[in-house]
Amino acid sequence: MSTNETMINRYERAFMNTFGAPQLALTRGEGAYVWDADGKRYLDLLGGIAVNALGHAHPAIVGAVQAQVGTLGHISNFFTSTPQVELGEKIQDVFAQSGYERPVKVFLTNSGTEAVESALKIVRLHKPGGRILALTHAFHGRTFGALTLTDKPAIKDQFAPLAGTVEFVEPTARDLDAAFAGGNVAAIFMEPIQGEAGVMPLPDGLLSHARALCDAAGALLVIDEIQTGIGRTGQWLASRGVQADVVTLAKGLGGGFPIGACVGAGAAGEL
Ligand SMILES: Cc1ncc(COP(=O)(O)O)c(C=O)c1O
Repeated sequence: MSTNETMINRYERAFMNTFGAPQLALTRGEGAYVWDADGKRYLDLLGGIAVNALGHAHPAIVGAVQAQVGTLGHISNFFTSTPQVELGEKIQDVFAQSGYERPVKVFLTNSGTEAVESALKIVRLHKPGGRILALTHAFHGRTFGALTLTDKPAIKDQFAPLAGTVEFVEPTARDLDAAFAGGNVAAIFMEPIQGEAGVMPLPDGLLSHARALCDAAGALLVIDEIQTGIGRTGQWLASRGVQADVVTLAKGLGGGFPIGACVGAGAAGEL
């Protein structure tokens, strides 16, 4: 029996069957390559599902992580540290460079789905009881709030009741117009490119159209850049040119280290 098979069998005995059996047991990575437990090398075109923006074992990430764990570990939210402050300021720079005119403020999380949960809390504070819209085929994560915003019956229906009501709208200007015409919209959540839906870019101009509808309705435009952000489309934000009220980031932000962020612009960063 190969080492791959051994590890997969042990995995299946130790872990819940949440994702099905792993296809391989990986032992190490370097740049764009990974090696399995049988010593076979693979060109990694998956990148941890759009996470490993700098590849595997990048010396800058290895050096930063090693230096930090050898200096100061977890410190709770009673304190701050230089790397935390520098990351917050760096994210502010990214938004300024991406054309944001309003100042932005950052809330750090451990994952993308938690960044979406934070965005949902901001929306609830912004307009309690307001209608929340998301797009058909959307994927925003697997915790309860994010799952409520996700339009995939196969991964959500069995967990009902979820976290409130979300209305799913086809990604066309006409359908957005009709949804906003119903009134009392608190927010719309949009991915610039719907990654989990099969890498489907939004129609040209739809984000700007949503921006105008949100302005008229006093609603928040929430752009989920967890998969598209931090350089993955050749620019810091795939939504460049449209200024959201809330942006969620993760994946490439940590390059494999668990870091996410919920970024609020203007009043949405002060709630
Ligand atoms: C657009 C989008 N939002 C949210 C998430 C959830 O992020 P995480 O897996 O870090 O919780 C994902 C993950 O694939 C995603 O693609």
